Amino acid sequence: MIYLDNAATTLCKPDCVKKAVWEAMENMGSSGRGAYPAALEASRVIYETRELAAEFFGAPSPVSVAFTSNATEALNIAVSGLIQKGDHVICTQMDHNSVLRPLYRKEKEGAELSILKCGDNGKPDMSKLENMFRKNTKAVICTHASNVTGDFNDIRTAAETCRKNGVLFVLDGAQTAGSFPIDMKKMKIDVLCFTGHKGLMGPQGTGGICLGENIRIPAFKTGGSGMHSFDKEQPGQGAQMLEAGTLNGHGIAGLHAAFSFLKETGIDRIRKKEQELCRYFCREAARIPGIRLYGNIEEPERAAVVSLNVRDYDSAVICDELAEFYGIAVRGGIHCAPLMHSFLGTERQGTVRFSFSWYNEMEEAEQAVQALREIAG
Ligand code: ALA
Repeated sequence: MIYLDNAATTLCKPDCVKKAVWEAMENMGSSGRGAYPAALEASRVIYETRELAAEFFGAPSPVSVAFTSNATEALNIAVSGLIQKGDHVICTQMDHNSVLRPLYRKEKEGAELSILKCGDNGKPDMSKLENMFRKNTKAVICTHASNVTGDFNDIRTAAETCRKNGVLFVLDGAQTAGSFPIDMKKMKIDVLCFTGHKGLMGPQGTGGICLGENIRIPAFKTGGSGMHSFDKEQPGQGAQMLEAGTLNGHGIAGLHAAFSFLKETGIDRIRKKEQELCRYFCREAARIPGIRLYGNIEEPERAAVVSLNVRDYDSAVICDELAEFYGIAVRGGIHCAPLMHSFLGTERQGTVRFSFSWYNEMEEAEQAVQALREIAG
């Protein structure tokens, strides 16, 4: 199989990640619940992973990091804790349902929601943000890159505008963490939500939320914490108040190995390779008659994700052809980003989405292009 659905989840993981999960399943007790070696080992691995994540994302400290099951959970925590009835919040047309749905729910509960639309270039024009601010604007929440087109949101302008106006900036890093540098301090990100199973190449069921300096979010769920058991309120320092119950220690051990792998390999190298594959693929696919590519495929800085369609065929039909006759795994349909599909005019057709990772090779990109030539022909 040629796996080109890395924007959904990276299928190939570094060997050290698999080994770490396996070893954790053999040795790991419950973190914070005992002083015997297996429990201490869990606490050590989890704390070290907080350190690695804080360093990787430029978060203020290890206690600014809380682990979640994915970016969706992290975004739900951010939205539910930061946005209350009467607050105004802004997101963009590029956003995924993991941002949109929590915000629609808040809107139903009495918050005000504005959505910054894409301009002709398929990207939200962040210079318009300031004019959208109201007295009660609490936060701007948006994705770093579109999971449909791979195009970037101008988060630099967004973050600076937010900081200048005392508005919180929350970033959904689901599609970029692991390939693009994210530094909360330098990039003025107040809250970062990330997932472990995509570009970070960790296990599914891992992710997190990182809180910037002075950002407090009330407990999202409550329960066992392994400390202060008589307290009626959820205890915890910083972001860890957002964790209750036994953590996914086995997964976090894998994430620990993944962060270490990324550090050793270097995300610049990873990004360069992914982008090279994606650029080649876009260039060649664009030459095939009957193929329409979406997004700013010429731009040098974009996530290694590309959406296309073959004439007016249903994207799901093309995906089935690719899988059945060529052994190529890609995603079709609507990629949980409905407003982006409305912008592209692909509400009915969806798009055939190819996404590349560190473990893909040029030969696979070539075979994907050849398969498209044959299908389109
Ligand atoms: N959000 C993931 C995707 O874009 C699952 O495919």
